[in-house]
Amino acid sequence: MAAKNPQSPNPLSNLDQWDDFIERRYKEGKSESEFRQYDAQANPRVAEFYRNNHEKQTVEYVLSKEKLYFGLTRGEKSIWEAAEYLNTLVDDSDPDTDLTQIEHLLQTSEAIRQDGHPRWMVLVGFIHDLGKCLCLYGEPQWGVVGDTFPVGCAWSDQVVFPQYFRTNPDANVPEFQTKYGMYQPNCGLENVHMSFGHDGYIAEVMKPYLSDEALYMLRFHSFYAWHRQGAYQHLENAKDKAMLEWVRKFNPYDLYSKGHSKPDLKQLKPYYDDLFAEFLPDKISW
Ligand SMILES: [Fe+2]
Ligand SMILES: [Fe+2]
Repeated sequence: MAAKNPQSPNPLSNLDQWDDFIERRYKEGKSESEFRQYDAQANPRVAEFYRNNHEKQTVEYVLSKEKLYFGLTRGEKSIWEAAEYLNTLVDDSDPDTDLTQIEHLLQTSEAIRQDGHPRWMVLVGFIHDLGKCLCLYGEPQWGVVGDTFPVGCAWSDQVVFPQYFRTNPDANVPEFQTKYGMYQPNCGLENVHMSFGHDGYIAEVMKPYLSDEALYMLRFHSFYAWHRQGAYQHLENAKDKAMLEWVRKFNPYDLYSKGHSKPDLKQLKPYYDDLFAEFLPDKISW
């Protein structure tokens, strides 16, 4: 566990608060107006996080991060090693949470397993947030977690805190401000550059090994404007429309699996050893 040191804040410190914010936003039964109101009254740290995210996720920024990470030149690791790596820095500033990152991953995957979903979906549950290791590579939290959205075309007002896009430098680039921007109508979301974060990164890592359904769950799990709000349909192709139901099927496990009982890693490990071996080689490129 990382020592507490005010001089060098833990890069994963408070990381879970962004997921918690999304969870509270989408609590079942919340009306559209309550949902909007919640955003307006969000705590200042959350507002500041999204202000940074929306202001700094430009086309240029996204392309540079894709170039830096999508070549997967950060070495080879097994899934357990990647999970242990994410575990090296736990959120030691949050008194409400005594769960490690691995325990969070297991809660998601175990909830999926208990509902009788296919084994590949259990795997997705375990790996979906492993891309948060970007924080350990030195990326800022606003560039790793939170809602994602397409860059290079007009921002939808269905993205949380749309007002913060006003100070994004791309607001002054006319070709990025049309409905389709740098894209063709219905070009398909896989051909769209999404704001950079842990979703896109883990999807790239897993691309050689998993099905389209699994990769859509990974790549778009934080794209709430699309899978919850129905925005950006003008960029969707037939494949996106077919995959949407899988992304939606996964979402409740991401949002609501927290707070279940603490998973017993030792007891669960043999199941997960078999699961990883079924779909993935021992070591994969990160
Ligand atoms: Fe995530
Ligand atoms: Fe998650």
